[in-house]
Amino acid sequence: MADSIRASKQGLEIIDKARSKKRWGRQSVVWCKDANTTEATLKRFWRNLPIDRETFIKICNTVGVDWEKIADREADAIANLEITQRGVFIPNSRCRRVWGRDTLIELILNRLSDPQELSILSLSGSAGYGKTEAASVVAKEALQRNLFADVLWVTARQTELVDGCISQENQFDALNWHHFLNQIAHQLACPIERVNQHLREQKYLIVLDNAETSQVENILANLVKMLNPSRALLTSRLKTKPPYVGLIQIQGLEEEWSYKLLRDEAEYNNISALSEASNEQLYRVYKLSCGAPLALHFIVGRILDDRALDPVLSALEQASGEVEEFYKFSLEIAWQRISNIAKNVLGYMGRSDASVTLLELFDAGKVQECEWNKAKRELKRWYLIEDVQDAKGNQRYDLHPWIRSSLRGELVNTWQPSLQDFEQIAKSKFDIDI
Ligand SMILES: Nc1ncnc2c1ncn2[C@@H]1O[C@H](COP(=O)(O)OP(=O)(O)O)[C@@H](O)[C@H]1O
Ligand SMILES: [Mg+2]
Repeated sequence: MADSIRASKQGLEIIDKARSKKRWGRQSVVWCKDANTTEATLKRFWRNLPIDRETFIKICNTVGVDWEKIADREADAIANLEITQRGVFIPNSRCRRVWGRDTLIELILNRLSDPQELSILSLSGSAGYGKTEAASVVAKEALQRNLFADVLWVTARQTELVDGCISQENQFDALNWHHFLNQIAHQLACPIERVNQHLREQKYLIVLDNAETSQVENILANLVKMLNPSRALLTSRLKTKPPYVGLIQIQGLEEEWSYKLLRDEAEYNNISALSEASNEQLYRVYKLSCGAPLALHFIVGRILDDRALDPVLSALEQASGEVEEFYKFSLEIAWQRISNIAKNVLGYMGRSDASVTLLELFDAGKVQECEWNKAKRELKRWYLIEDVQDAKGNQRYDLHPWIRSSLRGELVNTWQPSLQDFEQIAKSKFDIDI
């Protein structure tokens, strides 16, 4: 963002006086309209974040103030900040270590930097195979190696997939080209009309995460015209393949990496049943999970709760086959065993479209401060919630899209604990409210 400026603190005070004379709010619609900008850009302006120079000047002019009095003049400091601020939209990793993806990551990076390659690549595969996690490592690594000027990251809303496509009633909510372009403009801090120019002038990597829950064909048809030198990487459960999209299929982790993940989890959570597992038992876990990291984590959660391996394996083998059947089975058991408070938290998060803050959970009355630590421990033990941070580094909690859509589909409400499970729960010597 070479041609961008931010306001100084004193500058904002001047602007604040000028806008209150006009009786405009800080994100006044009239102001946005007159300055030909968006609320999001105006918000950035108020937060002293860099925005497009032209827009900055218009924002100041509209309230009758000379922009030069408002701009932060420490140009060098700005430039330095911008360099360290690259990659702010890339989500943080949700696991302690991303196991066994080095080859895949190199392959994607090579294809993204190959001038002969198509400008859009799609990383596709079932839920929980680690597409988002791999894409975020690719994005960080791409910046580390200076392959791109910056990474723009758009996460499509996590609407329900029905028979492999977004359901009719969600069609209108699904991220469309207009929403997508708006988000890109916001991340570039420029007006929508200048996105094309920015993407042509500098080499950006645009990641569209959960592409299957967006109006992907339309987005890609528009986006492809703006790429080169910029590139795009999608993560998608579907094998979207217009002729201008290169496909990369993600596989489960290889056997050896699945074992490493399991051993590391065993050690971290102090699960002797897992750290003492025989090779034959580990192989059964690997087979059941298909090497999908989400499945491996679900199994770890279950073993942690049961403190035994063989009974868990036998129970899980009932659900073997499709990995999503396996997830369903795992979530069903977890749901039966967690406390009502943890269920309340999950229910609330399932209805929410994005990650939540703790304050939001308290305000919504889903959990009290004194109960939170216990509920969080439970939810994390079963691998049901994920720690995430927003671009400003605030702690938030999120759900894997598969878990969110299961909660939304009210799958969990139709599940009845089996007698066997009641017995199991009754026998459980652990401190869990049922
Ligand atoms: N290689 C890996 N090693 C360890 N954990 C992983 C790995 N890949 C993914 N995970 C974890 O597994 C879960 C599912 O991964 P995610 O990237 O969300 O899958 P997808 O995007 O394919 O649905 C996340 O909690 C993630 O942190
Ligand atoms: Mg994902």
